[in-house]
Formats: sequence, structure tokens, C-alpha cells
Amino acid sequence: MRLLGIETSCDETAASVIEDGTKILSNVVATSSEMHAKTGGIIPEEAARQQAVSIIPVIKKALEEAGSKKEDIDKIAVTSGPGLIGSLLVGVETAKTLSYTWEKPLIPVNHLAAHIYANWLEEKGPELPGLALVISGGHTDLVLMKDHGNLEWLGGTRDDAAGEAFDKTARLLGLRYPGGPSISRMAEEHLKNKGVKLDLFPRPLIDAENYEWSFSGLKTAVIREVERNGKKDISRLAAEIQEAITDVLVAKSLRAIKKIKPKTFLLSGGVAANKRLTTKFKSELKNTDVDFRVPPPELCTDNATYIATFAFFNQNDTSWKKVIANPDLEITGEA
Ligand code: KG4
Ligand code: ZN
Repeated sequence: MRLLGIETSCDETAASVIEDGTKILSNVVATSSEMHAKTGGIIPEEAARQQAVSIIPVIKKALEEAGSKKEDIDKIAVTSGPGLIGSLLVGVETAKTLSYTWEKPLIPVNHLAAHIYANWLEEKGPELPGLALVISGGHTDLVLMKDHGNLEWLGGTRDDAAGEAFDKTARLLGLRYPGGPSISRMAEEHLKNKGVKLDLFPRPLIDAENYEWSFSGLKTAVIREVERNGKKDISRLAAEIQEAITDVLVAKSLRAIKKIKPKTFLLSGGVAANKRLTTKFKSELKNTDVDFRVPPPELCTDNATYIATFAFFNQNDTSWKKVIANPDLEITGEA
């Protein structure tokens, strides 16, 4: 079965053709992040305009690269939320038009739950139940995945998301948007120094007996540090920020793993592309029974492969008339 996935929730316009849920036949991503880098963050109106410009060429390219014509596509999958409303509408309305004119079933997809499915784009899919940490630009969610379509939300962030913490603190340091990759690149320099101690910034809620995070205090701590000592050594500050964020993500996830004892731990979302974070998880889970899964970095950040994969495992065929964009959809919500 071939699915065409379409993703336009934020500043990436993406389309992908996936065979039998797990085989990538094409993965095309156009991003307007260069444009947002100039303004230091996303301007929703601009992102939506760019989506409208890119959507048809991106879908056309994804079909061509997959060697597929419309006759070869069995179903269409599209992100219906959460995200920026203007951006979402471009993908949703395009997918509805294709569904109507091609007479193919349409499957609306929850972007957050779909991130987890980047872990199925391998030969051997993970076993369930799995504990999934979804860390993206707007969300930090810990969920228990008992089965496909059966997610239980365990906890998340009280304020800023993990990706947001990277993006906002990077901006304070004058680093380029998106902040995660910029901070991680800068931090690498500093981490080359053997035996560096990284304890400058607070690790909020690290010892709290819950599955909650809080990252907004980090911003304030970085502002204070810059006011006090200036931006003297950016690579050291970047390493300190990365360490504070990854320490709490790891510590609290490990506590949940110990308590819940899932078969697998599934990392996903843009922040899962962070090497320091995945190295920490790998070393902590090395000698345990828990199978640690993280997608390759290019499948962690937004693309349409896992949108189609999610749709394959949750075949919720819906009439195009009933599919609507929902910017506020939560990870356990129905798309
Ligand atoms: O999942 P994603 O591509 O888009 C959303 O659904 O939000 O996540 C984007 C977020 C941004 O905040 C970006 O700074 C962060 O993922 N990110 C990273 C890295 N690559 C992307 N954060 C830390 N380290 C990275 N290497
Ligand atoms: Zn995302």
C-alpha cells in the first residue's frame, strides 16, 4: 500500500510517499527557515504564504521521486494539527482537494503523535508498550503508548517546550534560528575540552516526583548570566544551556522508565536530533532491558514520512468533507 503524506504545520512544507507504512520511497522537504532566521523567529503570516508557494511543487516532486503517479497512491495522509493555522490550512485544503479529485481516502493526522512514528521507519518496528518522549519546538510530552491508537498522556512542560528553550536562549546569545542546531554546534567546541564541569544553570523540577518539566526559568538565568558576565564565551554558555535542558529531560524520563518498565523508550521530535541528548540516553539505557529508539536526525525534525507512517498504522479513513485544521490539537486528541 502506498500512502502520500503531506505536512505543513509550521515552516516546513513536506510531502512523502511511503510503501507499506515503513519504506520511504520519497521524502521532500522545503523550508522557509532561512527567511525566519533573518527575523530571529517565525512570522506566521510569512510561513503560511511560503507554504502556499511550495505545496504543489513539493507534492509533485515527492510523487516523481517515488516513481508514482496518482493511480499508484492508495490513500492520502495530512497533518490536521496542532500548528500554525495559516500553515495547516494550506496542507489540509490541498489534501482535501486531492482526495476529492483523485477519489482517494483521506486520513487526518495528529502531528505530535505522528512524530513518534519516525521510529517505525526501520526494518524492525519497536515493540509496545513503549514510553514516548516527544520533544519539539512547541511541545514536550511524555506518553505511554500501549498500542497503536492508544496513548496515555503522563506529563509535559508547565511553560516553555524543550525546543522553545533552545530557540529562546539561542536568540539571547545572538545565535541563528532555529536555536537547537545552533546551540548544539557551538556547544561541541566547548565539549571537546575534557572533564568540563557544566552546572551553571538550574535544573528545575529535576527531583520532583512527577512527569513535568519547566524551562522558562532557564531564559531568566541566561539573561542574568549575560547581564553579569557578558557574552564572553558563547560556546561555554551554549554547552551549559544544552546540559541543563538535556539533564532534566534524561533524569525525568529515566524515573518514568524505572516506574513504568516499558519494552521500548521512543524519542522523537526536533530536539531528538540533539546528539548530546541521545548519547546520554544511550549510555543510561545500555545495560537495561529497555530498547532505546531514536530516529535519524533528519527524520526527527518536521517532514512528511512519519505522517504517512502514522496513517498506515492508524487507518482512520475520513471523508474529505469532515477534515478540518485544528491548531490546538493535543497529543492524545483525535485529528
Ligand atoms: O519537531 P520540529 O521540527 O518542529 C515542531 O514540530 O515544532 O522541532 C523543531 C524544534 C526547534 O525548537 C529546534 O530548535 C529543535 O527542534 N531542534 C533541536 C535540534 N534540531 C532541531 N534542538 C536541539 N538540538 C538539535 N540538534
Ligand atoms: Zn514537529
